[in-house]
This record gives sequence, structure tokens and C-alpha cells, in this order.
Amino acid sequence: MAEKYYITTPIYYPSGKWHLGTCYTTVICDALARFKRMQGYDVFYLTGTDEHGQKIEQKAKEANMEPKAYVDMQVQTLVDLWKLLDISYDKFIRTTDDEHVSAVKKIFNKLYEQGDIYKGEYEGWYCVQCESFWTKTQLVDGKCPDCGREVNLTKEESYFFRMTKYQDRLIKLIEENEEFLQPKSRRNEMLNNFLRPGLQDLAVSRNSFKWGIPVEFDPEHVVYVWLDALTNYITALGYMSEDDSNFQKYWPADLHLMGKEIVRFHSITWPALLMALDIPLPKQVYGHGWLTLGGDKISKSKGNIIDPVELCARFGVDAIRYFLLREVPFGQDGMYTNESLLMRINNDLANDLGNLVSRTSAMITQYFDGIIPEAVGEKVSFDIELEEVANALYEKVSSAMDKLNAPDALVEIWKLISRANKYIDETMPWQLNKEGNKERLSRVMYNLSEAIRISAILLKPFLTTTPDKIFEAMGTKVEEQNFNTLVFGKGSCGVKVTKGAPLFPRIDVKKELEAMEKRAEELKAGAEKKVEEKKEEIVENTEITIDDFAKVKLVTAKILSAEPVEKADKLLRLTVDAGEEKPRTVVSGIAKHFTCEELVGKQIVLVANLKPAKLRGIMSEGMILCAEDKEGKLSIIAPSSDIPAGSGVR
Ligand code: ME8
Ligand code: MG
Repeated sequence: MAEKYYITTPIYYPSGKWHLGTCYTTVICDALARFKRMQGYDVFYLTGTDEHGQKIEQKAKEANMEPKAYVDMQVQTLVDLWKLLDISYDKFIRTTDDEHVSAVKKIFNKLYEQGDIYKGEYEGWYCVQCESFWTKTQLVDGKCPDCGREVNLTKEESYFFRMTKYQDRLIKLIEENEEFLQPKSRRNEMLNNFLRPGLQDLAVSRNSFKWGIPVEFDPEHVVYVWLDALTNYITALGYMSEDDSNFQKYWPADLHLMGKEIVRFHSITWPALLMALDIPLPKQVYGHGWLTLGGDKISKSKGNIIDPVELCARFGVDAIRYFLLREVPFGQDGMYTNESLLMRINNDLANDLGNLVSRTSAMITQYFDGIIPEAVGEKVSFDIELEEVANALYEKVSSAMDKLNAPDALVEIWKLISRANKYIDETMPWQLNKEGNKERLSRVMYNLSEAIRISAILLKPFLTTTPDKIFEAMGTKVEEQNFNTLVFGKGSCGVKVTKGAPLFPRIDVKKELEAMEKRAEELKAGAEKKVEEKKEEIVENTEITIDDFAKVKLVTAKILSAEPVEKADKLLRLTVDAGEEKPRTVVSGIAKHFTCEELVGKQIVLVANLKPAKLRGIMSEGMILCAEDKEGKLSIIAPSSDIPAGSGVR
């Protein structure tokens, strides 16, 4: 019987627009799952959505929808995304599934009945974005230590899980079992930041909002979203349901893969819960790094999204999968830039791989009427070298994959691809053809077709359509290409190659970059417009009191100087005299409306207590008031007669 392999991604919060970072964990898990399946494992690959909690409730409210309708809509877009990216999951769990909901209730009851959950009162800080509880000492500058956002002081009746009871076992687990938590840096982080300083019992229910799984024996409370979410890894297998055969078969998980920001929940909270339930622990928790954009994690809440659907439409799914699997050094952060994506596509896919296939099939067409010839004649050193690289490849790729290191696995595959390209330069088939050396030419062509075939087999877990296209182009029988036919020389001769379209068309980088930047501007303009509309809507619909208005400090001021801001065609840098000791700097978006000359000397009204903000690197200390007509034309608001700078405006 085949050995089982159970691999999971986290379940995703359906709380915003999906972005390229979203795809990272899922695509890596997909490559690992496909690789294991090709190795003969009985793989169960789980992914899904984490649909409860305060954050989702708030998002639904913002969208003016019921939470369930909101998550239904969001989840559909995620399922579509995974379909687009060819994700081969075996199950997609939703935490709103009946089976999950009922199992979570049972788990909560069981832990309560056995005394691992007790009732108390929670007082401390809560970060809605991370759905995390913090103590005062854990906060950094009063903010959430994970995401840096504001936290809310919360005091509510709450059920607690006795985490403290498991502290010693958890320390021992992470100290002694190196495999359990990887990479190593995360082990130190967990031990030093959380475990050794001492755990606290974890609040595992909330009663200040509704969107969650109710606690059966106290329905004022809903189950804390992380307890709800973590248990998906066992409820998806039917734990505590009528049919738990998958649980019997696949648990414990062989690998929980996730981003580093949620390692704490998976390497502390989750094993503690499993210990309490007396269930074996997962074999490994691995916290990978982030895909970043300009130094920041790409994220729904930061809004710095890169749209995977657009990228796939433009460059093809395999190009995007390849980028995600290849570009980020595994375990570390990696940067997304348009340039790095285009370089990967042009250099690795179009040049190295695409050209190897098209050159080879073109030569076989030219020299042998498209029929792959038999390898005849003596082998020379180039042949032996190429064959050796090809035959050693599986070991190298599988050892990289054992370490979950997809980038290294791809680097190894590319060594064969590069070796084959070099082989063409070394053997100079055009020369052999000129000399009429058909025998030598036969072996060279056959060898190239074998190098291509072996590369394509090993590429199958990573790229999902390209390998079959390659087999087709090379006349190779698709169904026979697997890890048993990886031996150099197993490929057939006598089959016909076809010259198809290039696998990856070469990109004109300069033109493409311009197009991508233009598109980004469009998207940004769209988003800015939305924000503006939202602000207007709030202004339309909100009455303020005289006290609200009194918070705004308006004063008269005079513009002393005005100059353009570099690389920002809408902005001007003004210095204004507001009757204070020193003039203020104000960055204002009025460059399209006024010349610098006409502004200098003008009287204005200044919002003097606006929180200073950096615009294009310049600290702006206030805002000047303008009226705007329907066409967007501006007129500066000014006192109608001369009045000293710094006079109050009411
Ligand atoms: O955390 N780079 O869900 P999630 C790499 N619901 N990976 C990224 C990324 C980026 N820029 N942005 C997101 C949750 N991810 C919880 C999990 S599990 C019981 C509950 C990854 O939607 C992230 O690290 O915020 C995580 O692995 C996955 O996307 C889902 O994140
Ligand atoms: Mg997240």
C-alpha cells in the first residue's frame, strides 16, 4: 500500500482582494503535492477558507452584506483563482461547512468537560486585523507586535484554554524535535519570545460580536476564530464526525506550510490543543518568508496588491507559477518587481527552456525530416557528460524537495537545460550536417531529445501545462512520462516532432514595463477615486456637532514661496507664514491649477492642526483650503481684506 502524505496550506481569510502573495503558500504546496504523487505517495492536499471572526464581520458590514453572503462571494473568487493556477488540492474546507461547525462544537464541549477550558474574564488588548490577544508587556509602542496596528482594550467574559498546562511539553517538543518546527530561526523565535518567558491561558471565546461558531452550552459566546480555524486540519478529515476514515488514514499531518506571521499559532496553540485532545502531533510546521513589494509584505490590508489574474492573463499560468516557485529563496523573503518577473520569463523560460525545445525540434525537422533518429556510433565525452547530468538529476531534485526547497529543485533542473544548450554549442550540429556526418548527428539529436524529455518530466510538479506541450512538440508519448522513465535512453526514436508556437514568447521588456506601469497607475487612480468617493459619501451622510467642528483649527496665512515637487506633477511645496515663529512647509496638490508666481504673496486659510504627513519625502504641516467646482477647477479660499497672518477662522 502506498505511503500517505498529508499536506496543508493555512485556510485563507476571505477578507479582501486576492493578490500574488496569497498564491505563494498554495503554489508551493501544490508543487510538493504533485511531486509526492509522482513519487507514488497517497497524497491528501488540503486548503480552504477561514470565514469567521470579527475582521470578516466588519468587512461584510463595510460591504453592506450579511456575513455569509459576503464570504460566499469571496470564497468563489478564491476557488476560481485556484482553478486558474491549477491547484491540485484534494479538499477545500470552509469553516462554515456544517461538518466543521459541528465538530468544533464537540471539540469545545470535550475540552470544557475535561477541564481544559474554564470560564473567566478576559482583560487585555485585541488586534482585530490579526485576531490576536496581547498582554500589555507584549505590545510594541502600544501597538500590535505582529502588524503594528492599533489594538483595542477589551474586557469581556470569556472561556479560557489551559495553555499553561502544556508549556513544558511544548518547550520540550520544540527544543528536542528539530523536525517539528522549521526553519531553525523560527524555533528560536518561538522559544525566546513566547515559550520561555511563559505562556498564558488563551481566551478561546468572544461575546462582543456574533459571527462565529456558538459555544453550545453558552450561546452568548462564539468560539475564538483561531481555535475554530486550526481545527480545520482534523475536521477536514472527518474528526468527530460519523465517518472519520480519512482522519484514521491521513492524520498526523506530514506538513503544515504557512507564512512566518502565523507560525506562533501553528507551533504553540495548535500542538497544545492536540495535546489536550490526545491526538498525535503534526510531523512538521514550516514557516516560509514573504513575497514583498518595495520592502513590505504584499497584503490585502496594505492594499499593495499585485493581481495574479491579470498576470496570468498576460504571461500565462506557468510563468507565474514558475516565478513564485523560483524567485523567493525558500524560508526567506523575496521581492516582487515587474523587472524580476520579466527577467525570469525571458531568461529562464523563453531563452533557456523555450529555445532548447525550438532549436532541437527545428534541427530534427531540418536534418531528419522531423523524425527523432536512433542514437548510433561511438559516445564521446560531451555525450557522456550530458547523460550523467540527466541521470543524476532525479536524486538532486528529490533531495531539494525533501527539504521543501522548490527554488533549489528548479535550479537543478535548469542545470540540465543549460547543459543541453551548451551541448548544442559543443557539438555544432550544423557543422556535422555540412560534413555529412549523419551518424554523429543522429546521436546528438537523440541526446538532445532525451535531455528535453527528462527535464520536462521533472518539471511536471512545477509547471502544469508546459511539460505536456513539450512532449507533444517532441512526439513523446505523454502517458509514459513519469519517474520510472527518467532514465536517459528510455525515450523512443522514430517519433515525429512538430514545430509549434514558442512555449514562452520573448517579451520586449522595455515596452512591457511601460505597459505594466501604466496599468498600475490606472489601478491606483481607480483606488484613489474610490477613497475620494467614500469620503464624500461620509461627509454627505454625517452630521457633526459644533464640538466636532471646534476641533479643526483654521487660521489665516500668507504664502511666502512656492516651488514644484520633483517627479510629482500635481504637487507644490509651499512655505507659509501662519503668524508663528517659523514659517511652515505645506505640500499641496494644486500644481495643475496655479503657477508658482501667482501664488506667492497670496493670503490663504490653513488647517493648522492637521496631523503632519510626509508627501514625496517632504513633511507637510497643514492644508490650504480651496473651493472646487463641478469641472474640478479650484479657487483659493482667502480673507476678503488684509488681516494679520495667524488670525483665527471660525
Ligand atoms: O493567516 N507572501 O490567513 P491569510 C507570502 N486565516 N505569503 C503570503 C503573503 C505574502 N505577501 N500574504 C499572505 C490566515 N500570505 C489565517 C490562517 S490557518 C489555521 C488560519 C500567506 O489569508 C500567509 O502567510 O492571512 C498564509 O500562509 C496564507 O497566505 C493565508 O493567509
Ligand atoms: Mg494574513
